[in-house]
Amino acid sequence: EQIKKGNYDHFMQKEIHEQPHSLTTTMRGRLKDGAVLLGGLKEHLKTIRRSRRVVFIGCGTSYNAALAARTFVEELTGIPVTMEVASDLLDRQGPIYREDTAVFVSQSGETADTLLALDYALENGALCVGITNTVGSTLSRRTHCGIHINAGCEIGVASTKAYTSQIVVMAMMALAIGSDQISTQARREAIISGLFSLPSNASQVLKLDSEMKELASSLIDSESLLVFGRGYNYATALEGALKVKEVALMHSEGMFAGEMKHGPLALVDENLPIIVIATRDACFSKQQSVIQQLLSRKGRLIIMCSKGDASAVNPRGSCRVIEVPKVADCLQPVINIIPLQLLAYHLTVLRGFDVDQPRNLAKSVTTQ
Ligand code: G6P
Repeated sequence: EQIKKGNYDHFMQKEIHEQPHSLTTTMRGRLKDGAVLLGGLKEHLKTIRRSRRVVFIGCGTSYNAALAARTFVEELTGIPVTMEVASDLLDRQGPIYREDTAVFVSQSGETADTLLALDYALENGALCVGITNTVGSTLSRRTHCGIHINAGCEIGVASTKAYTSQIVVMAMMALAIGSDQISTQARREAIISGLFSLPSNASQVLKLDSEMKELASSLIDSESLLVFGRGYNYATALEGALKVKEVALMHSEGMFAGEMKHGPLALVDENLPIIVIATRDACFSKQQSVIQQLLSRKGRLIIMCSKGDASAVNPRGSCRVIEVPKVADCLQPVINIIPLQLLAYHLTVLRGFDVDQPRNLAKSVTTQ
């Protein structure tokens, strides 16, 4: 086992640091001459373009990856996207139609709830697409078509490199579906060049490792951690909080910054640590005003911003700032999650918990 971990202490740590490579293998051979080639979808692109709705279905981190993709899939395809946690779709027996494209996202391809939701969508006549890391998995066999994320084997129970590769696959899927639209051509080209730059930006952001370790040591005794995001990075807030909760065994919640005044603001004091994601995109000025409001209530803030924006988000210099490289706005979640993965990892080690086998959790939940 130690041989497989190489120079790392834990699989989760290794998998976090592998991301420049796993993102490269996810894209390998799929982006050529400004076009996206996804062999597994080719025959079905016309049907997908004609569908009335895309429904994303998954559990845990895979659900969060789909949520991170939702906005750009809508933007690039013009098709409305709805989100379903697999177990909730089953509980509600929610409507799925023949005109739907149901996209199932699962690292293992074996999660029981996701597979049951697949059976349900097949019965209802939807076109079913699988996005998985596992060749030959039940998900890849039972769906009509799909895309392998090719992130390499993931062993740590907490999913890390699969998350970023899932988002990249969904970006490529959105580009392929929308490739017949002239109005979004410039946008698509910008995203494709953003995809090419992701591995080097992931390497850059991994240099925050020791900074995240230091941040973790300042949070080691906290009881709770909030993460505020919005827009493209609402999913980052949910996924960052999920990482902290599942491995560091610390209560953590990801929240819509836009919902702050509808409850969470009551929790704010000098002690509760709050991470605010405020990297550059169309929501930036709204996040600046969220920061002001939290500071006027003496909130203990940790602000994630784009490189060079430290003074724009932290004019009084009173907060801890995490500066990350700026990439195309819709791909920013791929970069922004990495410091939060590192934070969760270091918090877990410092708190003395099992990194790769968190209490009560399994890598793949194959029973209902
Ligand atoms: C379990 C794992 C999570 C994972 C989720 C969905 O809860 O601990 O890390 O995100 O299952 O798994 P899947 O294989 O379907 O992506």
